[in-house]
Amino acid sequence: MSNQVPVITVDGPSGVGKGTLCQWLAMQLGWHLLDSGALYRLTALAALHRNLALQDEAKIAVVAAELDVEFIPDAAGSARVILDGADIGNALRSEMTGNAASQVAALPAVRAALLQRQRDFRQIPGLIADGRDMGTVVFPDANLKLFLTARAGERAHRRYKQLIEKGIDANLNKIIKEIAERDARDAQRAVAPLKPAADAETLDTTQLSITEVGEWVLALARQRLRIRVIP
Ligand code: C5P
Repeated sequence: MSNQVPVITVDGPSGVGKGTLCQWLAMQLGWHLLDSGALYRLTALAALHRNLALQDEAKIAVVAAELDVEFIPDAAGSARVILDGADIGNALRSEMTGNAASQVAALPAVRAALLQRQRDFRQIPGLIADGRDMGTVVFPDANLKLFLTARAGERAHRRYKQLIEKGIDANLNKIIKEIAERDARDAQRAVAPLKPAADAETLDTTQLSITEVGEWVLALARQRLRIRVIP
């Protein structure tokens, strides 16, 4: 049944603008949104709260399988995140959490534990799936697969701006270094490495605004999925 539900996958490295694009697409189409990075971030935070070493594959896989998380929408159109019963504030989006997420995401048993949870997001009328392996592993039969890229320096600037706007402390040089480390770890890991699916459309967004990228995706969605998108 779920295979008849359309999916658009959006993969790419950190700071490329996938999150903003996917939220916008989900709103335009009235579809569900899967922020798969948030599941890896939450797993990392839950592991750290339990004082587990970030290499402890067996124990972290159990944490991933049993993640106790609740998203409570707030008035600002965002959501409060309750992990193990406690509000985690801005911790989900910090660079520290992103780096810890990329370490636990390299563990095969953790990825396996999160696989079905991600597929369960495929509900009518459709799903926008944001991540690193959405088109290659989680939804190989997606109707439209996108792979976004942008120069590393541009991604670091975007990430810096985003953190500052959210009131999260950030240091540009540190972000440049960490983005490079995270790219290398995500692209070189043995399971589900960051790479475009063979049938993905790749777009370099370095010089493009979010609206330009969004319009490009909607035009493709109209063609491929024959869906009506009301301008
Ligand atoms: O996208 P975000 O920055 O929230 O992802 C945090 C980390 O989670 C990434 O650096 C990556 O290592 C991991 N991740 C992944 N597969 C996904 C989504 C995120 O490995 N589908």
